[in-house]
Amino acid sequence: MNYRVPRTRKEIFETLIKGLQRLEYRGYDSAGVAIDGNNHEVKERHIQLVKKKGKVKALDEELYKQDSMDLKVEFETHFGIAHTRWATHGVPNAVNSHPQRSDKGNEFVVIHNGIITNYKDLRKFLESKGYEFESETDTETIAKLIKYVFDNRETKDITFSTLVERVIQQLEGAFALVFKSIHYPGEAVATRRGSPLLIGVRSKYKLSTEQIPILYRTCNIENVKNICKTRMKRLDSSTCLHAVGDKAVEFFFASDASAIIEHTNRVIFLEDDDIAAVADGKLSIHRVKRSASDDPSRAIQTLQMELQQIMKGNFSAFMQKEIFEQPESVFNTMRGRVNFETNTVLLGGLKDHLKEIRRCRRLIVIGCGTSYHAAVATRQVLEELTELPVMVELASDFLDRNTPVFRDDVCFFISQSGETADTLLALRYCKDRRALTVGVTNTVGSSISRETDCGVHINAGPEIGVASTKAYTSQFISLVMFGLMMSEDRISLQTRRQEIIRGLRSLPELIKEVLSLDEKIHDLALELYTQRSLLVMGRGYNYATCLEGALKIKEITYMHSEGILAGELKHGPLALVDKQMPVIMVIMKDPCFAKCQNALQQVTARQGRPIILCSKDDTESSKFAYKTIELPHTVDCLQGILSVIPLQLLSFHLAVLRGYDVDFPRNLAKSVTVE
Ligand code: G6P
Repeated sequence: MNYRVPRTRKEIFETLIKGLQRLEYRGYDSAGVAIDGNNHEVKERHIQLVKKKGKVKALDEELYKQDSMDLKVEFETHFGIAHTRWATHGVPNAVNSHPQRSDKGNEFVVIHNGIITNYKDLRKFLESKGYEFESETDTETIAKLIKYVFDNRETKDITFSTLVERVIQQLEGAFALVFKSIHYPGEAVATRRGSPLLIGVRSKYKLSTEQIPILYRTCNIENVKNICKTRMKRLDSSTCLHAVGDKAVEFFFASDASAIIEHTNRVIFLEDDDIAAVADGKLSIHRVKRSASDDPSRAIQTLQMELQQIMKGNFSAFMQKEIFEQPESVFNTMRGRVNFETNTVLLGGLKDHLKEIRRCRRLIVIGCGTSYHAAVATRQVLEELTELPVMVELASDFLDRNTPVFRDDVCFFISQSGETADTLLALRYCKDRRALTVGVTNTVGSSISRETDCGVHINAGPEIGVASTKAYTSQFISLVMFGLMMSEDRISLQTRRQEIIRGLRSLPELIKEVLSLDEKIHDLALELYTQRSLLVMGRGYNYATCLEGALKIKEITYMHSEGILAGELKHGPLALVDKQMPVIMVIMKDPCFAKCQNALQQVTARQGRPIILCSKDDTESSKFAYKTIELPHTVDCLQGILSVIPLQLLSFHLAVLRGYDVDFPRNLAKSVTVE
């Protein structure tokens, strides 16, 4: 939203579309915008909605096709909203995409990230009051509900933010919402619960404050009727953020900083149930209940993220760029934390809780998808270094089982985005049971990093490709660093610790060596890309490598792929092996080497043609291999960081050869903020 910053309609389109493009990595199936229409100058305002199934590019083209749109018309104050949707209720099409509207006159329009669980009851109620629905979405109930509250308001001069406040009192589930209305021209209201939302602030002029005090209602509110009777503390300059002297200011609402970072790096993170309103160029925040953090104000923070960090560079896909970034990203994860001279590790976000963690009964490591695999990959070394029982859990299953959790448990939540709904729910579940909660995320300011007691930022840099790559290796290293920190004063573990720390030091160089195999892996992909299935087998430290490799292949090549524990081979999967079935085997020089040889024999005895990922000096395995990819050797518990990279590269080349969009695989989203 711009206030006293004259912008042409074309500039407004460009800002909105660019913002959506920056969020494309989250995955979506349709997109839409709402902007002031051409009747802008006349008293009766008009909101124009443009929505489209498919890519943001299609929406962009559609905007310029609208002949009623004068591109040169200038707006001194303008508030536009835009959204990409990933279907949860209702198929992907233009009607179901956002913004959703209150009525055919577009009196209120809303965009929504999240899911409303009680939407059926709300819809039934609103239908009984004569409101007609046009979409199958949960979001449309919000648009209709705000109109209902407006139509039934007790006084004429009710504020936009009060309407929104009443609406969210009725909502259950998760949401980040931004509203626009013809009844409140030039005003914006945004709110969140469970889904992320931030506000970017840009002004050439000095700002009135760096901390916005929260406004609270003057009495406790139990239900909608009471809200009508309460009054909020009066807004005055000290309770708002604006540019001093009524100067030009722009506000950007977004679910992710990458959408706005090219305009400003000054942001305010909203908390659950905050209601932020911009009217007359002034931003105010109010809430009905005290916030979870009990912080009576919201500060403007300066983000360190740079735009070039989120651009593709010379690579054909973000995923490829992110695979090749791993020598730097793993280094950044360790930077300032591992002291290679003194053999010590210091994780600043955990140090104050170390005593408590050392006293715990067990560690529970929870995540989804790739993040879960990082937990599987490090379980053994964590058990070894912490001498504690370690459970690794898929967040959804952990919740389904109502897993017993105790106050002397320490629960880790691994999540690249820090927003995955299942992981976040598991976190709240563990918090309710008073366990100590530790976040391991790649996103500063994300819900998981804010809601946990302490944590580690993996510092891998923004990851845009839906298929996670560099986040996996950085999560892996973060968990190993935690194990090393825990074992610092265990005399019996010193030799082992030194070996691992030496291994960490040489990782960036060894990763470069693995990446130099890219062409060889491309050639292998040429042989495999027409296959329908691909098995990936291994055990011990590399079982997780197989799970993660198979997940990468499934995600972006749409081939069937399974990560198989080689120890289970004869209990079922061996039946799949024949001359045709491609089998990738991960065989490393570690304590499982002999057992892996055994599995190799079982495969070759069934005429299988194994493609073997093995150590450079392994002459034994290569004798039986159809093909080998030889990798540099490192400490057994870190080998998985090197052995997963050829599988990341293989999946990338297979997907390109099969003609698929590597960064945006069908049906998947980068950040799954619904259960
Ligand atoms: C989605 C993504 C996966 C990711 C998983 C967990 O399913 O498509 O690539 O591994 O979520 O995401 P998180 O952000 O919690 O690591």
